[in-house]
Amino acid sequence: MIRVGVIGCGYWGPNLVRCFAEDGGSAVIAVSDLEASRLAPIAKRYPAIQTTASAKEVIDNPQIDAIAIATPVSTHFDLALQALRAGKHVLVEKPMTSSTASALCLIEEAARRNLTLMVDHTFVYTGAVRKIHELISGDQLGQPYYYDSVRINLGLIQQDVDVVWDLAVHDISILNYVLPVRPLAVSATGMSHVPGRKDNIAYLTILCEGNLIAHVHVNWLAPVKVRRTMIGGSKRMIVYDDVEPSEKVKVYDKGIALTPDSENVVKMMINYRAGDVWIPKLDITEALRVEVAEFVASIESRRPPLTDGLAGLRTVQILEMASRSMQEQGKLIQVQETEGVLV
Ligand SMILES: NC(=O)c1ccc[n+]([C@@H]2O[C@H](COP(=O)([O-])OP(=O)(O)OC[C@H]3O[C@@H](n4cnc5c(N)ncnc54)[C@H](O)[C@@H]3O)[C@@H](O)[C@H]2O)c1
Repeated sequence: MIRVGVIGCGYWGPNLVRCFAEDGGSAVIAVSDLEASRLAPIAKRYPAIQTTASAKEVIDNPQIDAIAIATPVSTHFDLALQALRAGKHVLVEKPMTSSTASALCLIEEAARRNLTLMVDHTFVYTGAVRKIHELISGDQLGQPYYYDSVRINLGLIQQDVDVVWDLAVHDISILNYVLPVRPLAVSATGMSHVPGRKDNIAYLTILCEGNLIAHVHVNWLAPVKVRRTMIGGSKRMIVYDDVEPSEKVKVYDKGIALTPDSENVVKMMINYRAGDVWIPKLDITEALRVEVAEFVASIESRRPPLTDGLAGLRTVQILEMASRSMQEQGKLIQVQETEGVLV
């Protein structure tokens, strides 16, 4: 039984508390939040869970094996480092940290102490994304051409991060999982329409090895909720619409075939192919439940979790490059060879 402490119980933290409390392999021992009003509903629903304003009290609790961190992004690094130094396994919310350097530091600390470090890249654990991963790994897509995602709605404008670090992080983590090819360069532009706040709309382009191009459009000021990703390849094309209640993934047997022109050898004939559309059956288990089970299993079997520190680092690196590009009005930022961790 893995005994868990949860730090941060605002919007997302209670979901972690619920999933750990309901998972057969874990128990929640203590929950911390700076605000008493956040703890009251937890104490009412789970009388056996200790509640406290002190994160340190949870981290130092000898009854606790693992810490889940669901506080604002700027606090992830300090809390995760303290937890690792106290000998606890860590599940930290997305994005793992606010810089590559601090992500690397957490990875090193966890490795040195033989502890599990996992990042909550929730979408990777959805039935839809797992199915897309299975399709692409099984060569259903052919050569990947593009990954094109729109994630917009009238969303909560965050204080400490811009829309890229809050929303595009999901798309980057999905991209890294389903198409694990090396990124080569990143360009991004964004804008703020709320005085004193960070960018609320952004367009991000990632150029990858193998002629793959990824584009992510994120926006907190859209009138409608769109969560739509298209992944195109030489054999098939996938449409993933997360707003759809059940038929979230559709596989289109559409594309083009190039054949040499018999009249002119340097010219190619483009033939269009439009075949069937297939709707695969998806596992509908709540993603966070799958993820919590993966965290527990990875601790127990001493193996890296699916979304380990390295997955967190890869995502943070792209986010950091996007921020640099946004500061320079979309300048193409090349992945430095010396960074060496983007694979
Ligand atoms: N995986 C997902 O799909 C998903 C969804 C939403 C949010 N998140 C992530 O969860 C994290 C929190 O987001 P949120 O929307 O719940 O924010 P929130 O502001 O609603 O909650 C954060 C809570 O942390 C508490 N807190 C801050 N510092 C603390 C400390 N030192 N000790 C104890 N408590 C502290 C605050 O009082 C607050 O209640 C962010 O990293 C965000 O990116 C992930």
